[in-house]
Amino acid sequence: MSLLPVGVLGTGRYAPEKVLTNHDLEQMVETNDEWIVTRTGIRERRIASDQEASSDLAFHASEIALKNAGITAEDLDLIIVATITPDNFFPSTACTLQTKLNARKAAAFDLSAACSGFIYGLANASNFVASGIYKYVLVVGAECLSKITDYTDRNTCILFGDGAGAVVIGQVPEGRGFKSFVLGADGSGGELLHLAGGGSRCPSTLDTVTEGKHYIYMAGREVFKFAVRIMGGAAEEALSKAGLDKSDIDLLIPHQANRRIIESAMERLDLPEEKCMINLHKYGNVSAASIPIALAEAVEEGRVREGDCLVLVGFGGGLTWGASVIIW
Ligand code: UT7
Repeated sequence: MSLLPVGVLGTGRYAPEKVLTNHDLEQMVETNDEWIVTRTGIRERRIASDQEASSDLAFHASEIALKNAGITAEDLDLIIVATITPDNFFPSTACTLQTKLNARKAAAFDLSAACSGFIYGLANASNFVASGIYKYVLVVGAECLSKITDYTDRNTCILFGDGAGAVVIGQVPEGRGFKSFVLGADGSGGELLHLAGGGSRCPSTLDTVTEGKHYIYMAGREVFKFAVRIMGGAAEEALSKAGLDKSDIDLLIPHQANRRIIESAMERLDLPEEKCMINLHKYGNVSAASIPIALAEAVEEGRVREGDCLVLVGFGGGLTWGASVIIW
């Protein structure tokens, strides 16, 4: 079976209106703007309202992606939502989104790979289209991390934000589109970044809530070391699988977790700052939404031209990682 060339047909993003600045956080925990900026690069993040859930953010981002792709929701064959903050355990956020979009013929499922989820989603979508099974797949990264963040824990609350990014995946001209994917996991590091309560291991009770087990736990320094090790390596592996070299990169779109982690990847890849998309100062870490938001913003800013070589790379809870090379 010959495979069809597959790529991104349209991008979209959405961030809730409410802004939470470092100065706001100074009023909430023992921290300060200078520490947050120098240790992470983050200045502010967006926070969903009490009425907003991940599918609402996903809906706005998807509408823009569909418009930019020049198709309607009714054309969609499949919706994949990468998220660690689904509206509910079930039904999936992808099913909720399908109804909101009125994407009647689309199959729908959620994908759980934390901050690497969007790249895992792209790899899935690419296979469905390349094999001819589906024509159009919507891949969304959507998160309301504020809903699982403990705003008394300065180790985590300064990092996370809410938002969504979406892309429509379909056939592209020969020579364009996805050139490689690298996906990886190391479940032995799962404890480093997890949410303990509410699952079948530790169902929610008054005690689990009192103990704060419905909030993100993160061993920041260990995750930092893992991230520095994995980011550059995954990007290099994806380039090599595509038959390309780090000197071919026109734009790196990394997971936006910490500016120092991104800088270490830039150093390993010998990339000047103008070849790297960084927007974490505005949104913080939005897990699965961070790469598609950065991609959509790069497209809007005219930083992506036809024929450009893009490298997307992410890492996160699981532990997981993923990278992809795209010729735009
Ligand atoms: O999307 C996936 C995942 N997550 C990540 O990628 C996060 C990876 N990790 C990180 O980005 C960094 O580890 C953090 C930003 C979370 C922390 O930065 P760090 O440079 O690793 O700081 P640290 O945890 O080693 O803490 C250094 C000091 C400590 O004080 P002492 O023990 O040296 O006196 C902390 O108590 O900074 C203190 N500290 C803070 N001070 C002010 C920790 N958090 C804060 C804070 N404000 N918010």
